[in-house]
Amino acid sequence: MSEWTKRHLLDVEELSKEEIEMVLDTARSFKEVSSRDVKKVPALRGKTVVMLFFEPSTRTRTSFELAAKRLSADTINIAVNTSSLSKGETILDTARNVEAMNVDAIVVRHATPGVPQIFAHNLKSSIINAGDGCRSHPTQALLDMFTIKEKLGRLEGLKVGIVGDILHSRVARSNLMGLTKMGAEVTVCGPSTLIPVEIEKLGAKVSYDVDKVIKQSDVMILLRIQKERQKDHFLPSIREYAIEFGVTTERLKQGKKELLIMHPGPMNRGVEISSDVADGEQSLILEQVTNGVAVRMAVLYLVLGAK
Ligand code: CP
Repeated sequence: MSEWTKRHLLDVEELSKEEIEMVLDTARSFKEVSSRDVKKVPALRGKTVVMLFFEPSTRTRTSFELAAKRLSADTINIAVNTSSLSKGETILDTARNVEAMNVDAIVVRHATPGVPQIFAHNLKSSIINAGDGCRSHPTQALLDMFTIKEKLGRLEGLKVGIVGDILHSRVARSNLMGLTKMGAEVTVCGPSTLIPVEIEKLGAKVSYDVDKVIKQSDVMILLRIQKERQKDHFLPSIREYAIEFGVTTERLKQGKKELLIMHPGPMNRGVEISSDVADGEQSLILEQVTNGVAVRMAVLYLVLGAK
């Protein structure tokens, strides 16, 4: 195995195929730690990891915090709403002040694309992107790839459908970049208003027919329909989306018995996914969450240069 050389994790695009394999292999060895009675190894003892989330999060923030704690790092959550940001301090000044307390890694989520890159250019700590606007969510793509590989033993040659609001989805973009790099064939699907123009140039196939995608896929990643987008007239109505694109048990009957269903969360039951599919045998949704801890342990371990 070659050496890990990156101090930050900003995007999936910046990782080579070998580096993605390295994250997945490292995560595989860490997954077992979370099933022990004592869920801790000393790999990052003495390191400090700060969570700086300017947007809401359940899964990503909690799993990064658990990942750091299970590697014995100290963790701090900055409560953005009660920080001095509300008094007009810039986000970079906030981050610089946090760093001045000798932290080792900052995990950042922000609604504006590019904030993690600005931190990486201006700070000495390791910066990990936990989602920036509609642009990138690298650890979600890594945990999705880990989950698929764990179930099916490979990524190469698989047909993966990503269905929903592709235009505004950082998860879609990062998964497209990662999965195609690993040799999977990715078809994005949704209403034409929610598919970015020229997405084929990033390696995606495009379909506007979810039934076709169900018939051809090994794995489907369903995305949340962001209700707040409706006022921008991307969709005639949420109900219409559910009828045209919502994945239901009835629709799934057209696909392979082994077709796997994934969703990064949070999900709208009854819109992009019916409750029986979300809770059904083909669903990997909670396994994705479980695997998120192992993958984030791997990322922290690698970027912090643990031995
Ligand atoms: N998948 C995901 O990013 O979920 P959270 O917004 O809860 O972190």
